[in-house]
Amino acid sequence: MITHTESESNASAARAAWAARHPDPATRALLGRDAEAFVHQSLSSPCLSTIARAEGIWIEDTAGRRYMDFHGNSVHHLGYGHPRVVAAIKAQLDALSFSPRRFTNEVAVELAEALGRLAPGDLGKVLFTTGGSDANEVALRLARAATGRFKTVSFWDAFHGAGFGAASVGGEATFRSHVAGPLLAGAEHVAPFNCYRCAYGHPGPEACGLPCAGMVAYVLEREGDVAAVIAEPMRAVPVVPPPGYWQAVRAACNRHGALLILDEIPTGLGKTGRMFAFEHDGVVPDIVTLGKALGGGILPIAAVVARRDLDVAGDFAIGHYTHEKNPVTARAALETLAVIREEGLVARAEELGRHALAVLAERLAGLPIVGEIRGRGLMFGVEIVAARETRAPDPAAAERILYRCLEAGLSFKVSAGNVLTLSPPLVIARPDLDRALAIVAACVAEEAAAGGG
Ligand SMILES: Cc1ncc(COP(=O)(O)O)c(C=O)c1O
Repeated sequence: MITHTESESNASAARAAWAARHPDPATRALLGRDAEAFVHQSLSSPCLSTIARAEGIWIEDTAGRRYMDFHGNSVHHLGYGHPRVVAAIKAQLDALSFSPRRFTNEVAVELAEALGRLAPGDLGKVLFTTGGSDANEVALRLARAATGRFKTVSFWDAFHGAGFGAASVGGEATFRSHVAGPLLAGAEHVAPFNCYRCAYGHPGPEACGLPCAGMVAYVLEREGDVAAVIAEPMRAVPVVPPPGYWQAVRAACNRHGALLILDEIPTGLGKTGRMFAFEHDGVVPDIVTLGKALGGGILPIAAVVARRDLDVAGDFAIGHYTHEKNPVTARAALETLAVIREEGLVARAEELGRHALAVLAERLAGLPIVGEIRGRGLMFGVEIVAARETRAPDPAAAERILYRCLEAGLSFKVSAGNVLTLSPPLVIARPDLDRALAIVAACVAEEAAAGGG
């Protein structure tokens, strides 16, 4: 539940208090062995808690405490251990368990064809990797091959993965330290869209004239030789792009010969109430990357889906991964796509997301510590602020709310220091969603009453 966007809160008093209230020996022993066995890094080991079982929307720790998981690293669109995906994987293990490179197989081809049909426009040529970071690196190489250029434009504060290329286009401090550098040359960054708090201080997207999109266009023009703009269509913080943003960026890319790569690794496959988050914005990228939930929340698989005419690097290795056509991960992905389609999960995310935003708006209205409540589909968040007028972030209050919610059986992450980021599985039952929203509302109200902000 603690991820790359919240390193600052790792060792806080709220966390220490939470740990102290759970002194069961089994948990402590496993946390201790974990800390001893793994190389330490920010936001990973040492860990916050342990997990022994997971099913549907629930995770259970080694002491038997159960939490609804509203984080799930964005892999759990289908919840944990979806029976259809588990059965499909087991059957595939018996049928064909691996495919060495230069041999293709029915399942991998079927998955590539399925993704080509799913993606709009000319997006139809596919390459698989094991993780999202690698998928973005393949996309960047393809953009270099297709344009003969190497520069990129991406957002500060973005995350695109831990590899050197992915970290170069990412904008999070923890991946851009002296430990990582020097990163790729030509990786230019601009401020991300965030119209309500944008540096220009405009009141909202209608009035602002989209200076955030203008920044991208400006850099594309001044550099003159940018290969690609790479970004998340909706930021996982979560921040929804202002209307017209992506259309303006798409037009600027077209004007300046840059490709548009949209990283849908957490947002894709229905999370935001559309199969691809970019569909909300009426644009089609030149390359889209998918990952996380593609493996059904069980196996690691990611994909690059590119415009058919970008298949121009046939003489070079651009993403030569051992598990590139693994039939077992491909089977998990195929079954995941089938479940999303047959259970109507995209429409469900849209409907439940609207409901959740309405409930939160009603329950939290007027609380002085609540800033914006925002999101799309089942990726939504509540900003915790010191005072509504100033919108100054209050990370300490956000963290206290997180630990109160954990006590009440709800896990999520805090993003950007002060945003309660709620991302439930698409299969969640409405009463469970309502129960989780009630926990959030009660814990935020408790913090407000205790004088947070
Ligand atoms: C937007 C985005 N891109 C890429 C990645 C990297 O994916 P992976 O951890 O599978 O390499 C992530 C992971 O959090 C992500 O959120």
